[in-house]
Amino acid sequence: MADDSRTTVPERPPVTQPLTASGFLHNAWYMAGWVEDCAQRPLTPRTVLGEPIVLFKTAQGQWVALEDRCAHRFAPLSRGHIVEGCKLQCPYHGLQYDAAGACVFNPHGNRRIPPQARVRSWPVVEKHKALWVWMGGAPARPDEIPDFSVLDEAPALHGTRLDYILIAANYQLIVDNLLDLSHTSYLHEGILGNAETVQSQIKCDQEGRDVLVSRHASNVAAPGMFAQFWPDHPGKVDKFTVMRWMAPSNMRLISGICAVGAEPMSGTGYYALHMLTPADQHSTHYFFTAVRFGVKTTDLALNLALQEKIATMRRFAFAEQDAPVIEAQQRILDQADRTLDPVLLEIDAGPVRYKRVLNQLLRAEQS
Ligand code: FES
Ligand SMILES: [Fe+2]
Repeated sequence: MADDSRTTVPERPPVTQPLTASGFLHNAWYMAGWVEDCAQRPLTPRTVLGEPIVLFKTAQGQWVALEDRCAHRFAPLSRGHIVEGCKLQCPYHGLQYDAAGACVFNPHGNRRIPPQARVRSWPVVEKHKALWVWMGGAPARPDEIPDFSVLDEAPALHGTRLDYILIAANYQLIVDNLLDLSHTSYLHEGILGNAETVQSQIKCDQEGRDVLVSRHASNVAAPGMFAQFWPDHPGKVDKFTVMRWMAPSNMRLISGICAVGAEPMSGTGYYALHMLTPADQHSTHYFFTAVRFGVKTTDLALNLALQEKIATMRRFAFAEQDAPVIEAQQRILDQADRTLDPVLLEIDAGPVRYKRVLNQLLRAEQS
């Protein structure tokens, strides 16, 4: 239930390292890769929550996530190859592992398999064009995979590139960035925001453990990219964004423009999906894509051009505008000789709220 529609100066997060709580939530789903990307290679190495993982698909069509570290001398299994369609052979001395991580073949000596010869395996599910790994020891809960069904339902023409960058920063700095979209008026001026959208109404709500941050600017010029979605839009518009954070680090945004005073979804815009997967405490896999709604033109050439433009602009915004600032923030935090205590503004309502939920979940898991 929504219970926080006011945006006075938010209360402080209950942590002594204010910007990033330490530790990871393990009993949760993290996106490990786009299916179309991982399917192009026999073996995909990926570090998740500090764990080296290798992903592969068996000849029977089952996705597997194994520890990417042989039990013998710790060679990366991702440099090996798949044998008989379902076993992973180490590149170094040839031990073979099955999909559950048990060593099932030792080519040496009397061929005895030591009982300790096994690697970890994690549940992995293919859903919404992505692979999701469950990193904790509790039984995996498939119903907790975040809802990105807009990816499955929209016409291909309305979707954009399934993209990825690696950011050299803690994932919580990126969540902070995405839950406080006031930065679009500055960091992404002319692309995703403009001076007129600074004075937006901000609302912070919580639904279960999801945190939603809404921004609404009325009677403003349509920011660059959104104006192109609607070539004959009615002059000034209302600009709206609603960002949903789903613990621990997946986010779904609705962002668009509509006629002044109109119902937002009568306008046009996109769903923007952001999946953040910590590689470790200081680097984050950032998967993203967008799906348009309220498409205002059937002109195929224009729609194809917009599809490319959205993908290119968003990649530029994240990789060339957001990432350099966030990575510099991380370096500043790393170099600080004391705990830094941030000044809080009204725009921090969302970051403060999600951190409170995240800290509750971390404490519950650790206890
Ligand atoms: S390191 Fe893998 S078999 Fe030796
Ligand atoms: Fe941004």
